[in-house]
Amino acid sequence: MAVRASESVAGCRSRFPIFERLTYINSCSQGALSDSVRAAYDHYLTGWDERGAPWEYWVERAETARATFARFVGGEPDDVAVTTSLSAGVSPFASALDFKARPKVVISDFEFPTIGQIWHAQELRGAEVVHVHADGAEIPVERFDDVIDEQTAVVSIAAVCYRNGSRLAVEEIAKIARERGALVVLDAYQAIGTYPLDVGELGVDVLAAGVLKYLLGSAGLGFMWTRPGLSERLVPTQTGWFADQNIFEMDINDYSPSPTARRFQSGTPPVPSIYAGIAGLELMEEIGVAETRAHVTALNERLIGGVDELGGVVVTPRDPEQRGALVCIRSTDAPQLVAALGDEGIVTSERDGNLRISAHAYNTEGDIDAVLAALARHRGLLAT
Ligand SMILES: Cc1ncc(COP(=O)(O)O)c(C=O)c1O
Repeated sequence: MAVRASESVAGCRSRFPIFERLTYINSCSQGALSDSVRAAYDHYLTGWDERGAPWEYWVERAETARATFARFVGGEPDDVAVTTSLSAGVSPFASALDFKARPKVVISDFEFPTIGQIWHAQELRGAEVVHVHADGAEIPVERFDDVIDEQTAVVSIAAVCYRNGSRLAVEEIAKIARERGALVVLDAYQAIGTYPLDVGELGVDVLAAGVLKYLLGSAGLGFMWTRPGLSERLVPTQTGWFADQNIFEMDINDYSPSPTARRFQSGTPPVPSIYAGIAGLELMEEIGVAETRAHVTALNERLIGGVDELGGVVVTPRDPEQRGALVCIRSTDAPQLVAALGDEGIVTSERDGNLRISAHAYNTEGDIDAVLAALARHRGLLAT
């Protein structure tokens, strides 16, 4: 596999061949494919072909992925479960909670469908789900303060909303939850890779994410970090043999989950996605998350200024501290606007009536100017 010297924000674009053909500015859906992620898939296929079933090496790859992700969130590898998606971590976690003493689950209006659905599924086990409603594209912390109480088992929130790009005040919400004895689950999917995350500073109990967006990997790999000491107290009923304390024991006579966060894993790990995920994570580590944040903040300032000049409506909060990498622009017909930009070779996406523009390390001012010029040509599709 060709390994390149260390990478930087300024130099990384050439690692992503898609930019030879398209203006790709849709990392909130999927990060662009790099040369190293493509090479990682080749490496997997070659190893499979040459060695047949190198399971020891494949299991070692899963351990490398676990340790690499742990570095991204400031945690320890033993506190990280390697999963196949964000859902595949949060769901076994939910299955381990006992809602008898504390039936309440608090979620926000900003959640991705999987979070709403996982927690509402727990109503079958006695949970009572309470939604904290948004005020436009913001949710004031006081609204969490009003509903989190001594009956609350868990507060499950998204770091950044996938529909409007708004960032929740995670530290403040986590503090309120902690004071009232509730656990905090953070869906960091739209945040990770866009700004530095540290589980200690955030004060959350669980952080789940996947690699296919700003971590530059592909579908099929997720991770879930749990606070040290928490997993021993929680026994998931949703499980699989890679959650066992000794996977090679092959024991069918009992259930003895791993003492670490591995207990939230399930069956056979997603080996091809792990190869790709490691390559994506390592590339992102080389490029630098803090450097990416500074770069993308400048690009988004240019984008927002340009949309203002066009008379468009930016839905995402103006304060860079209150948003991730995603900027959403109100449209009169968002699917049509995405299609019109697509016809001009500009790849974006839409949700909830908003055009989603999500720049990453590899995007440039030229990409932003191309988007703005196209929006000017399709001004009729911008809400004003
Ligand atoms: C905020 C957020 N959470 C979760 C997901 C997806 O979760 P999963 O890995 O379970 O498909 C997405 C991605 O589309 C997302 O944007």
